[in-house]
Amino acid sequence: MSDKVIIFDTTLRDGEQCPGASMNLREKMEVARQLERLNVDVIEAGFPVISEGDFEAVQRIATEVKGPTIAGLARCVNKDIEAAAAAVKPAGERGRIHVFLATSKIHREHKLKKAHEEILRLAADGTRLAKSHCKDVEFSPEDASRTEPEFLAQVVETVIAAGATTVNIPDTVGFAVPEEYAALIRYLKDNVRNIDDAIISVHCHNDLGLAVANSLAAVQAGARQVEGTINGIGERAGNAALEEVVMALKTRADFFGKLHSEVHTREILKTSRIVSRMSGLHVQRSKAIVGENAFAHSSGIHQDGMLKMRETYEIMDPVEVGWGGTELPLTKHSGRHAMAARLEHLGFKLSDAEIGAVFVRFKEIGDKKKFVYDDDLSALVDDSMMPQDEGWQLESLEVSVASGKKPHAKVSLVREGSTKEAEADGNGAVDAAMRAIDAVAGRSGNLLEYNVQAVTQGHDALGEVTLKVDFGDGRLITGKGASTDVIEASARAYLNAINRTFIRRELGEKAEGI
Ligand code: KIV
Ligand code: ZN
Repeated sequence: MSDKVIIFDTTLRDGEQCPGASMNLREKMEVARQLERLNVDVIEAGFPVISEGDFEAVQRIATEVKGPTIAGLARCVNKDIEAAAAAVKPAGERGRIHVFLATSKIHREHKLKKAHEEILRLAADGTRLAKSHCKDVEFSPEDASRTEPEFLAQVVETVIAAGATTVNIPDTVGFAVPEEYAALIRYLKDNVRNIDDAIISVHCHNDLGLAVANSLAAVQAGARQVEGTINGIGERAGNAALEEVVMALKTRADFFGKLHSEVHTREILKTSRIVSRMSGLHVQRSKAIVGENAFAHSSGIHQDGMLKMRETYEIMDPVEVGWGGTELPLTKHSGRHAMAARLEHLGFKLSDAEIGAVFVRFKEIGDKKKFVYDDDLSALVDDSMMPQDEGWQLESLEVSVASGKKPHAKVSLVREGSTKEAEADGNGAVDAAMRAIDAVAGRSGNLLEYNVQAVTQGHDALGEVTLKVDFGDGRLITGKGASTDVIEASARAYLNAINRTFIRRELGEKAEGI
């Protein structure tokens, strides 16, 4: 058995299922290109049948991203498998179809209403159909960790016989604990006759905070593919955080022996930042490996120890995961070329038009702030990720706030070359600005979450606003905006959310029943 642990990234599929995390095509492409630089082995790029947008994203990634295998997810039904096959086709030999079907008693009886024999038949038929399109087929018995082990072994044997090259054993609801999960992997190795014809994969959710621990225990028991997401994003409590899995294998090589991944660990921090920016999901400060505080030592005893010898309190070299190496900040005198080079260094691959749009904002910010740091520049990228010729752009915003008077806002917005203005009162300055924007855009959003944070330090720091809005259809839309003024940042974030609703509608709604 090989000592290589295959790293399967599902940030763009399971990660994107996190409410409010959905990304547009442009944003998914940025993430996919960075995953390629990170050197993950497999990118699960989406669930092609789910919407035109998902299909297009998987197809574009399969066309443009070279290196990793590109997987598309499919339920065990013909239309899903055919959509996944068509979407991953441009990847040629690097295409993978990932078929799933629930196998646990609770799913069989209540969700699928199907008996054992029918599950086995569907699993075999689905795998065979996928195999007729693609050499590389992964099968996932959904809720495997709660499936009776004897039946799970039967399913695994059946799909391997039908052509599955990877069998994934998902802990779909994050119910497993490490020893038990490792025992399940060993059980399959001992009881599935053809198990050596496929790679065993694991896919752990984090409902009990055990996703990474379960994944590592499974690898020790013989699994050779780990599925997870960057920053651990995903449905509910998320998926196994891949950066933690990778660094655990590397840092504890004394324990894991020759088991290793081929991830370029120095790209980890950049990847985390890009995923956070593109998904609008902040990374908590104390998050292992990639949180702001992951390598910050505040206690005097620790600082003293560190000065004497770094290893007293630091088990990893931060440089190994991409920390350090801060560049000189840009200023308003920096030219477009210098700014574009810095964006590329930060991992963004922007078109000329997008660089132009960021440069306009960069100059505005440069006039207000002495230094434009890397984090400031990254915050300015968000708007450029929206198609420039669609959606509303903020031309001007005036807000008046005085004691005893209702806050009042006047906005001027541009769309497709024409300018519209509106004024509104509100309960606060942000509310007034949002109401005025609603009046122009013909929308009415209900603000469900509002978060503001300083991008860098100092009184002239950029304020970055991330908000989540429901525009009446029950979907949670994330908007992001940055400015030296937090009211303007809020207005930009709200407009960003409105513009996302246009794009999502144009791509079509989710397919029925998913
Ligand atoms: O959690 C899960 O079971 C999944 C499958 C589709 C692999 O995401
Ligand atoms: Zn999952």
